[in-house]
Amino acid sequence: MDAHLLDAARAATGFMPDDEGLFLHERAREAAPHGPLLEVGSYCGKSAIYLGAAAQEHGSTVFALDHHRGSEENQAGWEHHDTSLVDPRTGRMDTLPVFRRTVEDAGLEPVVVALVGDSPTVGRHWRTPLALLFIDGGHGEDPAHTDYETWAGWVQHDGLLLIHDVFPDPADGGRPPYEIYLRALEDGFTEVGAQGSMRALRRTSGDAGDPVSSR
Ligand SMILES: C[S@@+](CC[C@H](N)C(=O)[O-])C[C@H]1O[C@@H](n2cnc3c(N)ncnc32)[C@H](O)[C@@H]1O
Repeated sequence: MDAHLLDAARAATGFMPDDEGLFLHERAREAAPHGPLLEVGSYCGKSAIYLGAAAQEHGSTVFALDHHRGSEENQAGWEHHDTSLVDPRTGRMDTLPVFRRTVEDAGLEPVVVALVGDSPTVGRHWRTPLALLFIDGGHGEDPAHTDYETWAGWVQHDGLLLIHDVFPDPADGGRPPYEIYLRALEDGFTEVGAQGSMRALRRTSGDAGDPVSSR
């Protein structure tokens, strides 16, 4: 990975250990020659840099989707709350200004396109095949399963699905990302790699626009 972008990714605020970020970057380098990349859950832009570095190398684009209001676990009183990300005007979380600066300072504005909105609302209108989908949005049961159902069907044949925070042992973390990983294995995706809690799967049956299973 480009040294300047690697420094920027490491310095960015977020939830992506370096080994998992570099794994994400390498999978994105495989996928980027074949189409656009989309992440659900951008927060302050850390994973967007690992993805954006690959997209820049191959003339692709990263769609970085987030409503920038934080997940449940980012709200006041929860484990991952950061008071510096609260808008003093409204008292609500707002990670968009930090995301924007992170992408700008990394020089990735031509490559990383922010989609600011609620994941299922944006997804209802999405029709573009994806070379890579990275799911790292809300980690609760409904948000994780809804993100999977909304977006995984847009991965093109041979495209990649990356899921973050997959913990087979419940003692290590929440269940929903693991549950959607299991659903993907049943829905025509084949595991092709893992790093920490990150799983990479390839769509080996079906194509973009073919829906995945529903609950
Ligand atoms: C774990 S963080 C993403 C971390 C990021 N990938 C990184 O590298 O640091 C999850 C993000 O998902 C976003 N999110 C949660 N539910 C969402 C929804 N329904 N629509 C859009 N974004 C959502 C939150 O705002 C939050 O920024």
